[in-house]
This record gives sequence, C-alpha cells and structure tokens, in this order.
Amino acid sequence: MSTDSKQQPPQVVSKLFEPLTIKRTQFKNRIGVSPMVTWAAKEDGLPVDFHLAHYGQFALGGAGLVVCEATAVEPRGRITAADTGLWSDKHVQPWRRVTDLLRSLGCVPGIQLAHAGRKASTSVESRSSQSLATSQGGWDTVGPSGLAFSDQIKEPKAATVVDLEVIGDAFASAAQRAVRAGFEFIELHFAHGYLLSTFLSPLTNQRQDKYGGSLENRMRFGLEIVDKVRVAIPNDIVLAVRISFTDYADDGWELKQSVEFAKQLKAHGVDLVDVSSGGIIGGIDYSPFNTADQQHSAAAVIQRDSGLPTAAVGKIIDPLFAERLLKDNVSTFVFIGRAFLNEAHWPYRASDLLQDQSFKYPQSYDWCIGWTAFFKWP
Ligand SMILES: Cc1cc2nc3c(=O)[nH]c(=O)nc-3n(C[C@H](O)[C@H](O)[C@H](O)COP(=O)(O)O)c2cc1C
Repeated sequence: MSTDSKQQPPQVVSKLFEPLTIKRTQFKNRIGVSPMVTWAAKEDGLPVDFHLAHYGQFALGGAGLVVCEATAVEPRGRITAADTGLWSDKHVQPWRRVTDLLRSLGCVPGIQLAHAGRKASTSVESRSSQSLATSQGGWDTVGPSGLAFSDQIKEPKAATVVDLEVIGDAFASAAQRAVRAGFEFIELHFAHGYLLSTFLSPLTNQRQDKYGGSLENRMRFGLEIVDKVRVAIPNDIVLAVRISFTDYADDGWELKQSVEFAKQLKAHGVDLVDVSSGGIIGGIDYSPFNTADQQHSAAAVIQRDSGLPTAAVGKIIDPLFAERLLKDNVSTFVFIGRAFLNEAHWPYRASDLLQDQSFKYPQSYDWCIGWTAFFKWP
C-alpha cells in the first residue's frame, strides 16, 4: 500500500487549536488564560514560587497564552499590598523565572499592566471592597476627579498633569521591564473601573481640562499611554488592551464609544482588544460574571467594526461553546478565567471533545497516554 502523504486523510484541526501568528509571535492555539489577580506577593510586588507553580500549571495544561495578573506599574497603583509589580528593576528577574517556564512549555508569556487608580489601597481581607486604613499601611490614591468609588473606598486625589506624566512614564518603564523579563504579550488594563477606565467614562471623569469632557478628550490620556508604551517596546511585542465595553449605567461608557476607542487603539498600534465589562461604579447592580453573553456580542461587534482582533471572555467553560465563538467570528482568542482555576488542563479535555488530531500533550505525558490511554474521557 502506498504511504504517499497525499492519500492520508486530512488532520482534523479545530478552530480552538488552530495556530495563530501576530507580528512574530506564534500562538499554538487560541486559548488564553485570562488575567487573574492572586494577591500572593509577600513583599514589594515580587512574584514568588507560588506564581511559578500557578502560571506553570496552565502552560503544562496546554494554554497557548497565559496573561499574568494585573501587575502594578507604580506602588500607588496596587489594588492591595499583595499585588505583583513591575515598577522597579528588581522585579525583572523574578518574572523572568515565570516567563522562562511558560516558554519552555510552548506557551506565550503575557502580562497585564495596571494602575488601580481610585480603587487602589484596599485590603485583601475585604476582597478589595474596603480601603486599607493608613494605620495598616494604606496609601493615597489618584483618579481623574476627586470622586470615591463607594462609601467604603476613600476619595482619590484628582490627578494633576504632572501625575499623568509620571503615570504614563511608569507604564512605559514597566512595559520595558516586562520585555526584559521575557514577556511577549503585554495587555494594558483599561477595564473594571481602574485608573484608565475612569478616564474614559463620563461618570468618573469630570475634568475640565483637555483630558475630560468630549469623547476625544476622555480617550486622550489612554491613547497617550498607548503611544508611550508602543515606542518603549519592540514593534513585534504583541500589545493588547482590555476594556470594559460598557458601564451598565445611563449616560456612561457604552458599546458605541468602545468601537470608536478600538478604532483609535488600532491606529495607535494596538494588536488586540480583550472585551470585558463593568466595574466602574460601586453599588451598581452588575457583574461581569453574569453578563458573559453581552461581552461576547460586544467582542463580535468590536472585531467586525474596528478591524482589530478581539478576545472573548466570560463564563467560557464548555469547549464546544468556545469553538463556536471562534467559528462564528465573535473573537480571535478565547480568554478563560475560572474554568482554568477549576481545571488547569482544560485544553486536554477540549482537544478530546473536539477530536482535534493536532493536539499534542507535553512530551513527558505523551508517551504514557499513548501507552495506557488512561486520560481518555468516558
Ligand atoms: C480570581 C479572579 C481574579 C481576577 N483578576 C483579574 C485581573 O487581574 N485583571 C482583570 O482584568 N480581570 C481579572 N479578573 C476577571 C477575569 O480575567 C475574567 O474576565 C472573569 O473572571 C470572567 O471570565 P471567567 O468567567 O472565564 O472567569 C479576575 C477574575 C477572577 C475570578
């Protein structure tokens, strides 16, 4: 019998496991681990062994991309004292351990750079819902205007133009350190009521200067940050932005503005938009966890109308559902949070359900899986 490869049946490759290249970065599949704070830094925002094990498990589990948690660009921008950071050179080497591990397992190392703005300086015990008392190490916070997030969270100082310069430079320096630490994918956190989203939203930005008022003015600070970061890092580093596509509030930020913002992000050199929602006003009855379908629809609209690839996120648990999102052009990536915490090897089951023949287990597992078939699902 001929062994001519032309006569072999074509390999089944699902959309979920279809490789993707952005710039020069190759992703072995479209499965990303969504950024999730772990509040496990013991000292000065330094990642420790926990982070190595935590992120390593997802890479071993087959994720094509791991986006490490919201990581502060300056100490003032930490949500809690246990946030990770990249505000100094001493953070580079501990993060390098994480990126080396992820890359060695075939996973693109990513990180979310963040500034918590008026939602900074909170306690871990309250799950960030209460300000940390000054006597317990709390610090002063900053926002576009002097409006507090809730009655449990202290009022921020309205940022001066000098503050904005300092914060913009902190994003650029942190991005440079991220590259030195080996990250190939940098996501800027413009969502969930943290500093950059509060500049976008008319509900939280009541400035009278060139950074407040019209949509153009409210986008200005964010776009300045994108510009500073883009020139600070090599062009082939993938730059993503996570947005809240809506505030879920009358007269707030909404989808139409998100589409316009995404077009601007594209013009300013951003490669991907990660579409989340909410988090801007304390006490509003919303949950990004309960509005997954709206987030996915918004990801589809933004991808279609801005021409930028999107990541869909929110309650993506079932691999067949994830496959459908990609096949329907809702997004280019799926970002998965809690399902990965539950099942760090989620892609193994996904490949089995999708009968994807391109999927490869890590080498050390591959030989024994073929031998005993003990991983086969019922
Ligand atoms: C424990 C935990 C920590 C999170 N931390 C972050 C974060 O650091 N940055 C961020 O943008 N979103 C964060 N999120 C939101 C997730 O990235 C994701 O958008 C959300 O959980 C919805 O996706 P899921 O339904 O797949 O979990 C966090 C969510 C959880 C559950």
